[in-house]
Amino acid sequence: MTLVLGIDSSTQSTKALLVDAADGTVVDARTAPHPPGTEVDPRAWLAAYDEATAGLLERAEAIAVGGQQHGLVALGDDGEPVRDALLWNDTRSAEAARTLVDEMGGPDACAAAVGSVLVASFTASKLRWVRDHEPDNAARVREVLLPHDYVSRHASAPGTAAFTDRGDASGTGYFDATTATWRPDLAAAALGHEPALPRVAADGSAAAETAAGQVVAPGTGDNMAAALGMGLGPGDVLISIGTSGVASAVSAVPVADGTGTVTGFADAQGGYLPMATTLNAARILAHQAQWLGVDLDMLSDLALASVPGAHGATLLPYYGGERTPNRPTAVGTWTGLTDTTTREDLARAAFEALLCSLADAVDRLVTATGDQPRRLLLVGGAIHSPALRAFAPAILGRTVTLPPLGEYVALGAARQASWALAGTDRPPAWPMADVVELEAEPTPHVRDTYARLRDRTDTWS
Ligand code: XUL
Repeated sequence: MTLVLGIDSSTQSTKALLVDAADGTVVDARTAPHPPGTEVDPRAWLAAYDEATAGLLERAEAIAVGGQQHGLVALGDDGEPVRDALLWNDTRSAEAARTLVDEMGGPDACAAAVGSVLVASFTASKLRWVRDHEPDNAARVREVLLPHDYVSRHASAPGTAAFTDRGDASGTGYFDATTATWRPDLAAAALGHEPALPRVAADGSAAAETAAGQVVAPGTGDNMAAALGMGLGPGDVLISIGTSGVASAVSAVPVADGTGTVTGFADAQGGYLPMATTLNAARILAHQAQWLGVDLDMLSDLALASVPGAHGATLLPYYGGERTPNRPTAVGTWTGLTDTTTREDLARAAFEALLCSLADAVDRLVTATGDQPRRLLLVGGAIHSPALRAFAPAILGRTVTLPPLGEYVALGAARQASWALAGTDRPPAWPMADVVELEAEPTPHVRDTYARLRDRTDTWS
């Protein structure tokens, strides 16, 4: 059996999956934790890599690293970090992002240049923040890497020059995803001088070797790796319900959305991975359960006892402001409450609001890519809720596919490693076991009522 090792260097931990290269069967797995926080000494990820891959690495013929997107690893002349890495979820760089967008000629020009309108997460915004707040550190930066690049180089033989891939590079803000080339001028504009940037290895290529001669594939960002691990293809849309709601589409064409709603990332298999993110997702259900004094199972039972449309009770769930649509100062708004509104209706309206908001995100992707989804896949803790399973196909208006639980980022990295080992044009076809298909009669009136509330101008701030 030929084995490959897929690594997920995520925000919280490193996960390593040893996988059968032929069909993706997981043979062994290990994890090691990362330090908490939004700025972290990136050498801790190297130690976690060593710990998580111990005992697995020597059994693999190829490896690849998927990693948290966007993080800034700034290295000095000695190859060591000049400061802790700033992670994707460090929001100090929001102002720097706005400044860079202005300097690039506004949102449309920015999206045309790098595929996305910069926000705090992007590496370029973090470079500018360091230049503005820590000029001494900025001056010492010689090379800039993404988290997965830094770990991949550590995994490679000593002396290997850094490398990255199109997918993760497209989250930097100084990479043109349509031509797959760096924009060193934009990196220089952000930092104040031009840093060295990693070589962009071709998707699925053998980018390097370990000291023991194993193939190292290019690796990629976590979202791109998850798409590869789930076997997503053109037209597939993946909705992930977590702290935020993320809808991403595998697209053959690049996207440049000047409204900033859809980020125009590249993927890890020659295409693109446009993405729309909502700020309010799992919290909509968590708040509702708390306010009704029930747990999430009970919230589901209550919601199932109401009817589609919750007898008119309608929620616009922008509790934390929202970014899809872009209403940073919006608040949650309820309408349609009457003397006869029940707890069941209030529970139902919360589920319907979550799903309508996600349906809006999918619509933005459809507008940006011009493609109707071929399949709609749903992942995240909320999919265990019977109410969510029942309402999702009705509100999204189509069959919803639930993939089995899995470590898809690490699995996607393993698939990329297997691809690099095979040297084929396309990734190996790995079967996906046991998907569940959810069907229901569509309830378009629920979305119509929600859309009327969403489009009322008094809910915009
Ligand atoms: C995507 C993003 C996150 C990180 C999480 O733009 O910032 O999904 O990749 O690791």
